[in-house]
Amino acid sequence: MKPRVLINFACSLDGKIALKGGKAYRFSNPEDLQRVHKMRSESDIILVGKNTINLDDPKLVVNEKYFKSDRIPDVAILDSNLTVNKNARVFSYPRKVIIFCRKGIDGGEFGPGLTSKVIVRNSTSSSSHPDFVVRELGNIGYRNIMLEGGKSVITSFITEGEWDEISIFYSPTLAGDEGIPMFGPLKEPMKFEHIQTERLGNGFLVTIKKAF
Ligand SMILES: NC(=O)c1ccc[n+]([C@@H]2O[C@H](COP(=O)([O-])OP(=O)(O)OC[C@H]3O[C@@H](n4cnc5c(N)ncnc54)[C@H](OP(=O)(O)O)[C@@H]3O)[C@@H](O)[C@H]2O)c1
Repeated sequence: MKPRVLINFACSLDGKIALKGGKAYRFSNPEDLQRVHKMRSESDIILVGKNTINLDDPKLVVNEKYFKSDRIPDVAILDSNLTVNKNARVFSYPRKVIIFCRKGIDGGEFGPGLTSKVIVRNSTSSSSHPDFVVRELGNIGYRNIMLEGGKSVITSFITEGEWDEISIFYSPTLAGDEGIPMFGPLKEPMKFEHIQTERLGNGFLVTIKKAF
């Protein structure tokens, strides 16, 4: 069975998910952080791209400050050449971290010494196609994937149709045109179906699904 893929990210009113040069900025407010951490607690695994780990160094855990849960979700990282920072905080929790790399990369020596159990999965091609990643995670037994970015991973999963729902939190902030946009190039405009819009503190959350 294919897992459900919920995409979640926070952005400015001008649609940027980070500042110039990819510098992280906290667009989420406390109300949104409560929602995000609850969502993490309900997910089996959190999926991110290598750049998000190397640039932001997120822990990708459920922080009790925002939501109480004993759960530590597993993490999947898309990283074709295994260049993810081994000292990243994501590896310092007792959980599985699955790294998807390209065909032919030897991941044998990657894991030892890290608190997390690292599993390196080789893709069947030079990069990890979203369909391959979702199927592989489904075969391992994951049912609920939360995709937390960044721009390239969000774009590839959306354009390949490997998603079920997208939640976008809009902060009342402008990041300017040098910020990192939420999406990369698209071949053509994409239209979605609106599920709901709700106010969260000083921002608002838009949830969308595929239009059929
Ligand atoms: N506001 C938010 O909610 C939020 C959340 C997360 C991240 N961010 C921001 O997003 C920025 C990072 O975004 P990014 O686009 O540079 O990087 P990213 O999406 O985190 O990672 C992209 C990298 O992942 C690898 N990759 C492997 N398979 C892929 C696939 N199927 N699709 C896409 N990528 C794949 C590629 O590197 P290889 O070729 O080496 O494999 C690619 O360059 C940061 O500035 C961060 O702050 C914001």
